Amino acid sequence: MSQPYSFRDHQNVALVMLPVGPAHEGERPMMSSNFLTLDGISKRYGVLNALESISLDVARGEFLTLLGPSGSGKSTLLAVLAGFTEPDRGCVSLNGDDITRLPPEARRFGVVPQGYGLFPHLTAYENIAFPLRVRRTLRTRIDNRVQEVMELLQIEGLGDRLPMHLSGGQQQRVALARALSFEPDLLLLDEPMSALDASLRRDLQAELVRLHRQVGTTFIHVTHDQQEALALSDRIVVLNQGRAEQIGSPRAIYDRPASRFVASFLGKNNLLDTIARVGADGRLQFHWHGHRIAARPGAGRLTPGPCVLVVRPEAILLDPVRGGASHSDERVRGKVVSRTFLGASTDIIVAIGDDILMVTLPAAAPPIVPGEDVWLTLDSERLWCLPGGAPPCELSSVSSELAA
Ligand SMILES: Nc1ncnc2c1ncn2[C@@H]1O[C@H](COP(=O)(O)OP(=O)(O)O)[C@@H](O)[C@H]1O
Ligand SMILES: [Mg+2]
Repeated sequence: MSQPYSFRDHQNVALVMLPVGPAHEGERPMMSSNFLTLDGISKRYGVLNALESISLDVARGEFLTLLGPSGSGKSTLLAVLAGFTEPDRGCVSLNGDDITRLPPEARRFGVVPQGYGLFPHLTAYENIAFPLRVRRTLRTRIDNRVQEVMELLQIEGLGDRLPMHLSGGQQQRVALARALSFEPDLLLLDEPMSALDASLRRDLQAELVRLHRQVGTTFIHVTHDQQEALALSDRIVVLNQGRAEQIGSPRAIYDRPASRFVASFLGKNNLLDTIARVGADGRLQFHWHGHRIAARPGAGRLTPGPCVLVVRPEAILLDPVRGGASHSDERVRGKVVSRTFLGASTDIIVAIGDDILMVTLPAAAPPIVPGEDVWLTLDSERLWCLPGGAPPCELSSVSSELAA
C-alpha cells in the first residue's frame, strides 16, 4: 500500500531546488497580481480526491496560508507548487509561464519541509551553503551570502554546530536560512511551527512576519493552526477534503465564513439552525426557540427559509434570571451547564432546548453558576447567516407559508 505523501519523503530533493536564471538581486518588487496562478488543480490518489479543482492567484510579495485539518490536501498542494507532485488536471503558471511540468530543480522556489529536513552530517553553515554550492556559486559569494542570511536569522554564532546540537527553534532558523540562501522567488513552508512548543511558536511567528517584511519574497505557508493563520497571513485559503472552501483575508474569513465548515474551523462559533421569515415590518427575522432576531443588512445570505446562524461566543449577553430581568421577544431562556475560568475570559456553556451554546464572557463577568437559569441576548450586529441545510420540502413549505 502506498504511504501518504509527505515533504519529509523529499527532504533531499527540497535542497536542490535551484535557481536556473540569474540570482534575484537588488530591489524587491512590490505586490502585484499574476505572479503565481493555479488554475483548476486536481489530484487523485486512487478513489481519493486529494485536490479538487483549486484555482488561486497569488500576488508577488504576499504571505498566503493554506489552512485546513490533517488530510485536507495542504501538503499535496505545496508539493504541486514545488514540482514534487504532478497534478492530474490543471495548470500552475509563474509570471504567465506554464510551469506545471517543470521539475523542482528548475523552479526558483525555496522549501522548508515539515521537520526541516536538515542534513544531519553537515554543520549549520554547510546546510545553508548547500543550495549555493550546488549551483556553483563563487566561494567568496557563498561565504558572504551565508553570513548575510545567518545574520538575518540571528544565528551568527551557530555555523559550526551539527543539527543534533541545535534546539528546535535554532534548527528552524537554519532551515529558513537555507531556503532563503539562494534568494528564491517563492518560499514554501510546510507546518514550520508544528514541532515547537507554544511559547517558542509565538516567538517564531513574530520572527516569520519580520522575515517576510524584510526579504519581501512571496511566502506560501501551511498550517492546521487557525490562530497562526490569522496572525501571520495576508490571505488564507481554507482547505477541506481537497477543496478550497474559502479564500480571503483573515478578517473576511473570521467575520464572514463562506460555509459551515469554515465557521466551525475558525474559532468556537455557535452554529444555530433557524428559520428566516419576513416580519410585519417587511424585514427579515431569524426565529429561534421563540426568539426573534432582526437581520442586519449585509449579514450573509439573507433570504427567507432555513438558515444557519453563526454566533461568536463573545456576541452573546447573559443575564441571570434571578436578577429580575423579564422575558422579552429578544431574549431566550437557557440553563448554565458549565463555567470554565480562562484567565482573561470565562467560557460558559448554556443549554437551550436541544441547542448547546458556548458563551465567552470577560473575566469580570457576573458570577453565573452551573444549574442557574439565564436570559441570552444575541448581538444582532455580529450575527452571520449561511444557507440552511434543510431538505427542499421544508424550504417549499416555508416559502408557501411566506407566500400565503
Ligand atoms: N502519495 C499518496 N498516496 C496516497 N494518498 C495520499 C498520498 N499523498 C497524500 N495522500 C492522501 O491525500 C490526502 C491529503 O493529504 P495531505 O496533502 O498530506 O494532507 P495535509 O497536508 O492537509 O494533512 C490525505 O487523505 C492523504 O492520505
Ligand atoms: Mg501535511
